[in-house]
Amino acid sequence: MTDIRDQWLAEIAAAADESALRELESRLLGKSGAVTELLKNVPKLPPEERRAAGQAAHQAKVAIEAALAGRRAALDAAALARELDGGGFDPSAPALRRGSGSGPTREVLVPWTRPRGTLHPITVVRDELVDLFRSLGFAWLDGPEVESEFFNFEALNIPADHPARDSQDTFWLDDGNLLRTHTSPVQIRAMRHYRPPLKVIVPGRCFRSETVDKSHEHTFYQMEGLVVDEGVSTANLIHTMKTCLRVVLRRDVKVRLRPGFFPFVEPGFELDVNCPFCNGAGCSVCKQSGWIEILPCGMVHPRVLEAGGVDPERYTGFAFGMGLQRVTMLRYGVDDIRLFTGCDLRFLSQFGEVAE
Ligand code: PHE
Repeated sequence: MTDIRDQWLAEIAAAADESALRELESRLLGKSGAVTELLKNVPKLPPEERRAAGQAAHQAKVAIEAALAGRRAALDAAALARELDGGGFDPSAPALRRGSGSGPTREVLVPWTRPRGTLHPITVVRDELVDLFRSLGFAWLDGPEVESEFFNFEALNIPADHPARDSQDTFWLDDGNLLRTHTSPVQIRAMRHYRPPLKVIVPGRCFRSETVDKSHEHTFYQMEGLVVDEGVSTANLIHTMKTCLRVVLRRDVKVRLRPGFFPFVEPGFELDVNCPFCNGAGCSVCKQSGWIEILPCGMVHPRVLEAGGVDPERYTGFAFGMGLQRVTMLRYGVDDIRLFTGCDLRFLSQFGEVAE
């Protein structure tokens, strides 16, 4: 028994390929294979021989199965090594996945490419605005999200007892600092650091303790703009705002100015744009007025220039604070601000631009 078993194992170890292995497998373990026959035969033996013969046959079967699996693995590994060596395998070739072919219902294998993300819609609009303003000679600045009371309020002509502080529901920190409620504090930082003449934009994240609804978020994005030079006028402000809105909204815009109160500008305005949804005729988006409030702005208050270390007798300036979500909503016709902070890829992936 041992002799014949060793002979079988040697044959398996020498099998040249898969078909030789299959042939051995069926000859030994198949329905009427040699080992199968041995096992079948055990009950016919005299009782005193059965136990030993049964054990030997079973051990032979186990050893043969292991040898077959071992040889099969060795043959597979050798085949792969040959393929790699012989250049038959190109590790840089794209993998294939099921995809739709040219016919209406055909499924074919097409190259698999890594799915790529898309830029967030607010990033798309911010980048466009940044490009535009840089082409007009503005510098792109950043400022801290944790601000001091001085930069966020005091220096912007909003003293401690001023009611305008209450309109910006503030997240105060234990150390007396706060999460900036707007990007305007960077006006002061910019003037102190760069001195006029200066033209800057400051896109960035702001925070207010707001109740979240369709049009309010506690965390939102603004883009501050500030121009300080000799002889800057409201006409410069209006022209710049019109240019900017024309570019982001992709159409010729009509604007109107209404008085608006912000302690750091004088005069201060609310700049409205004619409603893109009804073209001024009146609809639910513009609440039948034909206008959409889009941009608070104004001429920099002399006290703010002073806080920035700039001589208000010599220089004037304008400033604006654009709500980036708001502009993005108008640009793409999005009606709920919460979509931007949600993680719904069905929404977020529609904006098409590929993040490299
Ligand atoms: N900082 C103001 C706000 O958040 C907006 C603003 C900026 C108004 C610049 C006028 C000038 O509401």
